[in-house]
Amino acid sequence: MPKAIRVYEYGGPEVMKLEDVALAEPGAGQIRVRQEAIGVNFIDIYFRSGAYKSPHMPFTPGKEGAGTVTAVGEGVAQFKVGDRVAYGSVADGCYAEEPVIAASAAVPMPEGIDAQTAAAMMLKGLTAEYLLHRTYKVKPGDTILWHAAAGGVGLIACQWAKHLGATVIGTAGSEEKAELARQNGCDHVILYRTEDVAKRVRELTNGKGVPVVYDGVGQATLMGSLDSLAPTGLLASFGSASGPISGLDLGLLAAKGSLFVTRPTLMTFSSQRPVLEEAAASLFNAVRSGAVKIAVNAVRPLSEAVEVHRDLAGRETTGSTVMVP
Ligand SMILES: NC(=O)c1ccc[n+]([C@@H]2O[C@H](COP(=O)([O-])OP(=O)(O)OC[C@H]3O[C@@H](n4cnc5c(N)ncnc54)[C@H](OP(=O)(O)O)[C@@H]3O)[C@@H](O)[C@H]2O)c1
Repeated sequence: MPKAIRVYEYGGPEVMKLEDVALAEPGAGQIRVRQEAIGVNFIDIYFRSGAYKSPHMPFTPGKEGAGTVTAVGEGVAQFKVGDRVAYGSVADGCYAEEPVIAASAAVPMPEGIDAQTAAAMMLKGLTAEYLLHRTYKVKPGDTILWHAAAGGVGLIACQWAKHLGATVIGTAGSEEKAELARQNGCDHVILYRTEDVAKRVRELTNGKGVPVVYDGVGQATLMGSLDSLAPTGLLASFGSASGPISGLDLGLLAAKGSLFVTRPTLMTFSSQRPVLEEAAASLFNAVRSGAVKIAVNAVRPLSEAVEVHRDLAGRETTGSTVMVP
């Protein structure tokens, strides 16, 4: 029997149990995949803790991976048994050896990219793609601020933004992470545990502020993000690693210069198949060309999912973590 992580109640990392599960048959529009590598993402923590609710209980976390198709359900024309595929976001239940996922989540495994790299970059790289190209379109000459620049999404996005011709200001939680961010596209790094982010951004932009802040940290960075924006600037608040934002006073947006705020999700973009295919092609090109390098900075067995979540939540990781079944 294949193994999978199952969660019976929301809680800390210890609620994840590795169990034998029945080999499931794919339903209409689904494929079964023997996974070679499993991507780890902060969203898996939100679901495991109950910050986001699973539609059913028990459930298997995980939205990213790469592997080989072992069965196809009714109506699936684009994949056959033996195809190698990669997936992120609209996939579910990926903390498993052989999950059944929606075929609409998968794309053919890109030529010349190995399974661990593919599993490390689908959800995070597609997120970087829609944020940099579809949420605020970064142009040569822009100066942007990206929080948690040494993280999974951050390392990919900062390299990509630099390649697009932007000056990239990143934030990081330690000097080691700051150095990594500098090696991966950041022109300037602010140590946001000790430095005043908005003050430093004003210094670096001759008082102007930036047209866009990409903020996946959430509660802890909100005010610094708003105060770093130029008039009519956009806060793309795409995550809440430090805790969710609630009760944002819209009057603040007026007072700070007619600001815009969006709370975008990859799901909105990647659930449209043509957008997913275009974004995946753009991501694969960026990686194949060498403009974006995928940092698989930790490879752990699926049986260590509990420790993997502790490390990610505890700010111990950089770049991408993958698990292997
Ligand atoms: N909306 C979307 O479509 C979408 C898609 C993918 C990811 N996301 C979001 O993007 C963010 C990054 O995701 P990721 O998987 O790549 O994670 P990650 O950036 O690798 O890890 C999170 C990082 O956030 C920083 N952080 C700051 N305060 C924190 C706190 N109190 N607790 C934990 N971490 C804290 C840490 O970096 P430092 O040590 O440098 O502070 C930590 O390493 C998450 O908020 C995630 O939910 C959103």
